[in-house]
Amino acid sequence: MADSSKLTRIGLAGLAVMGQNLALNIAEKGFPISVYNRSTIKVDETVERAKKEGDLPLFGFHDPEAFVQSIQKPRVIIMLVKAGAPVDQTIKTLSVYLEKGDCIIDGGNEWYENTERRAKAMAELGLQYLGMGVSGGEEGARHGPSLMPGGSFEAYKSIEDILLKVAAQVPDSGPCVTYVGEGGSGNFVKMVHNGIEYGDMQLIAEAYDVLKSVGKLSNEELHEVFSEWNKGELLSFLVEITADIFTIKDDKAEGHLVDKVLDKTGMKGTGKWTVQQAADLSIAAPTIAASLDSRFLSGMKDERVEAAKVFKAAGVDDIFTDQVVDKQQLIDDVRQALYAAKICSYAQGMNLIRAKSIEKGWGLKLGELARIWKGGCIIRAVFLDRIKKAYDRNPDLANLLVDPEFAKEIIERQSAWRKVVSLAINSGISTPGMSVSLAYFDTYRRARLPANLVQAQRDYFGAHTYERTDVSGSYHTEWFKLANQLKL
Ligand code: 6PG
Repeated sequence: MADSSKLTRIGLAGLAVMGQNLALNIAEKGFPISVYNRSTIKVDETVERAKKEGDLPLFGFHDPEAFVQSIQKPRVIIMLVKAGAPVDQTIKTLSVYLEKGDCIIDGGNEWYENTERRAKAMAELGLQYLGMGVSGGEEGARHGPSLMPGGSFEAYKSIEDILLKVAAQVPDSGPCVTYVGEGGSGNFVKMVHNGIEYGDMQLIAEAYDVLKSVGKLSNEELHEVFSEWNKGELLSFLVEITADIFTIKDDKAEGHLVDKVLDKTGMKGTGKWTVQQAADLSIAAPTIAASLDSRFLSGMKDERVEAAKVFKAAGVDDIFTDQVVDKQQLIDDVRQALYAAKICSYAQGMNLIRAKSIEKGWGLKLGELARIWKGGCIIRAVFLDRIKKAYDRNPDLANLLVDPEFAKEIIERQSAWRKVVSLAINSGISTPGMSVSLAYFDTYRRARLPANLVQAQRDYFGAHTYERTDVSGSYHTEWFKLANQLKL
């Protein structure tokens, strides 16, 4: 056992799943760590795990004062508690014992403005504060998460050596951590990561629905397909776990567990914040919004069951099964549709980050963010390397869709993508993520849209004025008067 009378390098407060695993990860990388939790049983549990997992230099404290005093100065404490009031409560408990120059890092999924408010209040006390996105779930926290720290650069520098070792390591691109930027930028970037995560999960679920409902693939076949996809351009954590899910048998009855899981998606709110922010910043993020709406609709299970009865009685089946498809062709088309839609979803997320960065003057580097998402986090994928390269080629890229490589990939896949969306529509299956992604692409790539008519309507009923394509300036027309004169 390491010597507990010496001061530790860092502290961690909040020993639920993420906190416990991150503390063990830090200790395993050779940094002596003090841990604290309000309910003491978690402290003892973590100490026990540290012993079992290799006599790691981890020291548990039941008393907040003793916890703080056990850390070397200037002290750094990572806090992993539920976002909102528990964060304020923990800060209150710890800050009583902190001294000038000490630092608290919030590693939860916090709303970025809360972090900025807290950083300001802490600065008034001479304390430093960081908001750090931590992604990767239990496994990631224990063996290498993706870390998105934002706030005081000086505070980041004081623990950079720890973060570089604790983060996931990706060959050829380094540890999945970078100093994101000032203020609440770390939390903001993590929030958008989660919005993209919602989009990815929705698109995968739609691919599953089309393959299962139209292609009639069994769970064994679905496992094969997703495993195969995970060897190519779609290689990613979410595709990998999807392949695994189809292999798990029900432990309570016959068949596979996935078929017994209730079709109601839960959520904790970061995806909703992403969509709210996109609206606030006038950034179109339809794929992410569709994934959020799908979660809302999935939650209305009882209503959907009733609606199905109403339409069934009127002769409308759940899905229309009269489509004859070539299974192999369908699998290949769905793979391409999934990939093309994914490009649109990431383009939206990246554009949202850029818009916020401009608004706040954060100077965020999109390529660097793609790099730290290549490993450790939930959206990790080989695809992120392509995004990084696109921003390396042109940091001012207006949209991923117009990067020459992505444009080429989309063009190659658009025919399969259109086929899958049409097939789903004709089969009565909703593929909101794939469909709105296609609409996003079709809207973005057209130089002229029917927005001229909307402008004419606005000017007609509200004199909102319009611009012309040929002469500059703002115009208003008496549409009603003119139209009535013509009617005479
Ligand atoms: C991660 C995850 C993690 C959490 C999601 C779940 O990056 O490790 O994103 O933060 O699992 O936020 O979010 P929902 O409950 O909203 O689906």
